[in-house]
Amino acid sequence: MKSLIKKLVETPGPSGFEYQIRDVIREAIGNTADEIRVDALGSLIAKRGTRSESGMRVMISAHIDEIGLMVTHIDDNGFARFTNIGGINPLTCYGGRVLFMDGTRGVIGMDGIERGKTPKLTDLFIDVGATSKEDCPLKVSDVCGFERPFLDLGKRLVAKSMDDRIAAAIAIEVLRKLESTPHEVHFVFSTQEEVGLRGATTAAFGVDPDVGFAVDVTLSGDTPRRSTKMMTALGDGPAIKVRDSSFIADPRLVDWMVKTAQGAGIPYQLEVLEAGGTDGRAIQMTRSGVPAGCVSIACRYIHSPSEMVDFDDVDNAVKLLVKILSEPIKLD
Ligand code: CO
Ligand code: ZN
Repeated sequence: MKSLIKKLVETPGPSGFEYQIRDVIREAIGNTADEIRVDALGSLIAKRGTRSESGMRVMISAHIDEIGLMVTHIDDNGFARFTNIGGINPLTCYGGRVLFMDGTRGVIGMDGIERGKTPKLTDLFIDVGATSKEDCPLKVSDVCGFERPFLDLGKRLVAKSMDDRIAAAIAIEVLRKLESTPHEVHFVFSTQEEVGLRGATTAAFGVDPDVGFAVDVTLSGDTPRRSTKMMTALGDGPAIKVRDSSFIADPRLVDWMVKTAQGAGIPYQLEVLEAGGTDGRAIQMTRSGVPAGCVSIACRYIHSPSEMVDFDDVDNAVKLLVKILSEPIKLD
């Protein structure tokens, strides 16, 4: 599974430009799905199973886009200014490397660091090593993601775009491990989450699920001096989301997930996230409303080029989802 994770996190795919990562995912799914389609916003939807008497139509959503940058201006010396795609923190940019969709690489620079001053995005520029505007291979509208190789620290894994490629890896692994299901399961590899859950919104409308789950990363509360107190910690198990600032998970589904984890002896933690959102909201708010929940992976340094997760949490999230999808879901 680690080689799958490496492949997924190292492929660029800022929101709206998910065509490369979608191909990687399609190949990884192989013949484990009954049917694969791509909707108008580019989300890849892999269907598995037929709905039995006790089954439901279930949507599982993992977003495949990542935060990135888009070129807005190129100056006479070949330096490119940019705007953000999704939540970019300027603090994590300076000295970073970027990879454009066509393979062009560059570094992020600024004119000098002033002590104690946090740079703004407008202070930063991309330097691809050009000596003039004419020599610069970039054009306005080109997009890039961060470039950072996957780092396997054993139990802990580090990469850019663990948010949310780790969930894509989990969903693919669930497809591979799921032997039988009473449900009609739609695995949605959604686009444009980082710019407002856009892919999951149209995918949820199209799938029209009876129940849905997002799979995403969440903040971890286990770093030395976190100012916002939070219980989630790396290695304490997949987190069953109770709420974030985008939606409140259906309490019946939360109960069901907790009971399922307990019954199967899978470690879990409860997640109460004060700020942040996931595809769970898009599922819940589609059509006339859908019971929705979310399985989260605690992650350190989210939206930096070095996001860290715990491999046991990943493994246990796969087990929990396989278990949930293998049995009838009871909401009462
Ligand atoms: Co994110
Ligand atoms: Zn995410």
